[in-house]
Amino acid sequence: MSPSPDHNAAGRQILVTSALPYANGPIHLGHLVEYIQTDIWVRFQRMRGHECIYVCADDAHGTPIMLKARAEGIEPEALIERIGHEHRADFADFRVAFDQYHSTHSPENRHFAELIYTRLRDKGHIARRTIRQAYDPEAGMFLPDRFIKGECPRCGAPDQYGDSCEACGATYTPTDLKNPVSALSGATPVEKESEHYFFQLADFAKFLRTWTASGSLQPEIRNKLNEWFQAGLSDWDISRDAPYWGFEIPDAPGKYFYVWLDAPIGYMASFKRYCESHGLDFDAWWSPDSRAELHHFIGKDIAYFHTLFWPAMLTGAGFRAPTAVHCHGFLTVNGQKMSKSRGTFIKARTYLDHLDPEYLRYYFAAKLGPGVDDIDLNLEDFIARVNSDLVGKVVNIASRCAGFIHKHFNGRLADSLPDPDLHDRFARSREEIAKLYEGREFGQAMREIMALADAANQYIDEHKPWVLAKQEGAGDRVQAVCSQGLNLFRVLMACLKPVLPRMAEKAEAFLNVPPLAWDHIAEPLTGHRINAFQPLMTRVDPAAVEQLQIASREDLATAGGEATESTQALEGGPIAGEIGIEDFARVDLRIARIIRAEHVEGADRLLRLTLDLGGETRRVFAGIRSAYDPAVLEGKLTVMVANLAPRKMKFGVSEGMVLAAGPGGKELFILSPDDGARPGMRVK
Ligand code: 2FM
Ligand code: ZN
Repeated sequence: MSPSPDHNAAGRQILVTSALPYANGPIHLGHLVEYIQTDIWVRFQRMRGHECIYVCADDAHGTPIMLKARAEGIEPEALIERIGHEHRADFADFRVAFDQYHSTHSPENRHFAELIYTRLRDKGHIARRTIRQAYDPEAGMFLPDRFIKGECPRCGAPDQYGDSCEACGATYTPTDLKNPVSALSGATPVEKESEHYFFQLADFAKFLRTWTASGSLQPEIRNKLNEWFQAGLSDWDISRDAPYWGFEIPDAPGKYFYVWLDAPIGYMASFKRYCESHGLDFDAWWSPDSRAELHHFIGKDIAYFHTLFWPAMLTGAGFRAPTAVHCHGFLTVNGQKMSKSRGTFIKARTYLDHLDPEYLRYYFAAKLGPGVDDIDLNLEDFIARVNSDLVGKVVNIASRCAGFIHKHFNGRLADSLPDPDLHDRFARSREEIAKLYEGREFGQAMREIMALADAANQYIDEHKPWVLAKQEGAGDRVQAVCSQGLNLFRVLMACLKPVLPRMAEKAEAFLNVPPLAWDHIAEPLTGHRINAFQPLMTRVDPAAVEQLQIASREDLATAGGEATESTQALEGGPIAGEIGIEDFARVDLRIARIIRAEHVEGADRLLRLTLDLGGETRRVFAGIRSAYDPAVLEGKLTVMVANLAPRKMKFGVSEGMVLAAGPGGKELFILSPDDGARPGMRVK
């Protein structure tokens, strides 16, 4: 068991990981809570002078990746290569400073997956059993739970996944579903036998209980583990049958490691790659007696894998256990689950196209605590908080003082500070702030820093350099007050540097100092020439936030949530490219009768349709002129979106949308219901 670290010890060796994102979808703001949280912690540790190595990788195996590649008509290797590039670029632009970003589809990962498996097998921790599972006879493959759909056994809601019902919240197994179908082919699944490999988790019950009690976990997670212990530790199925995208199990042709077996091993693989290029001794960090710390940052939904399977696998295979697993909550936007139709499912890249990444880094820091509570990105509060704290308080200190120093003193700071005690108070606060960073109490740390920023502004308000500057013979006082202000600003920027690395760099250039470190700011900067003031950060433009939401809505068709095969995940999302039932339910589809269809003068593509919705008349402009003679349409029934916001067009207002299918030109077909449908009926 790893000894508890002494957080004040100089020269700690700390290996840090964030969860590996699946290589089948884009990074979005929900992911970024974790990467930003981890990156802030890592940058803080480095500023304190510790050896802190941060590794991550793409989680590149599993059925969803295999199927997505198939759907795109490419090999999985090509898909994970492309997504890997996108992920790396997104992280780099959010200034998430990994030392190594690798892939689970790598030789290092194959090596460690095989090594850990064979060691566990040789020590008798792997069992083999034949089980019955749902099989898609048309697709020729076994189906993960999330790929079976049917009617909820409890409430009868149609189209529910094989593990839980989105309508009533019931959880069950796929065999409980009524009228199940394969989400891949639509075929009815059959039950088929196959031999599977199981990791016997219960062999590690004693070790896990001791490890859980050793202070490695947050109280909420420790309690959860105690519940899991009481429920009993079941064997874990670590194999999947071909066809599967992953590593074949060494002694079992046609059987593959389940993606969740080799995913956490990816932490080791990524670190191994780093050791090779940097001449580090891998074993010194991973052997059971290692003095290094190992910290995993993850979302609370994957705690089971990281606090049970993973420590047990490591110990069983002769490696060290994690020092700590830090879980965070989920992200909501404007108080609700991220939603594509509301424009709050925001991809990292879309955000970067519109806003400065450091706004979000600060906002998340201001919201993050050490617990597992969800955090909310309220877009109005985001604008107000960033503008008030960073621009209105922090940048303001520097911009109020810099001009006088340049104008009257040729950029030179005074030889001593007029209020050294105030500077000392700021410098001493660093210790309290350091404790908060260490304990991941970032929100509290930001509040302390902003209270200091208020004190610095108050100092400037009280000493009014702009008034002094107009007084005869008060030149030295102006220089002294402004030098004091800039020194206070320097301490604040050092404290904010883990959160705002780019702004800190700009401040270093402006102050004309080497990179700010935690310990080097106790001594004030005096008799020193600074550079001209450059804007360190501009205000958040509310119009840019608006544009971001509009662009996110436009991403709707392409921004898939990542599919997951996991049955342990506490919250599942829609699979790639799909919308949730609640999104669909918001679309009011109605049967409508076309009572009039007319050409629109000056519009080559449009017909003006007058629609009867069962008593209500709507006028809709439809782009179907190339395919239809208006006379043919009159009297027909069709399907329309009745709750589309009215759109003002050049030729008038369009009050809905008629649904049509086809590539365009002559091949465009309006949808028509079967006999018996009547205008106004709701399409379900
Ligand atoms: O839940 C997920 O997104 C997984 N790809 C996380 C894997 S973390 C680690 F175990 F690799
Ligand atoms: Zn239900």
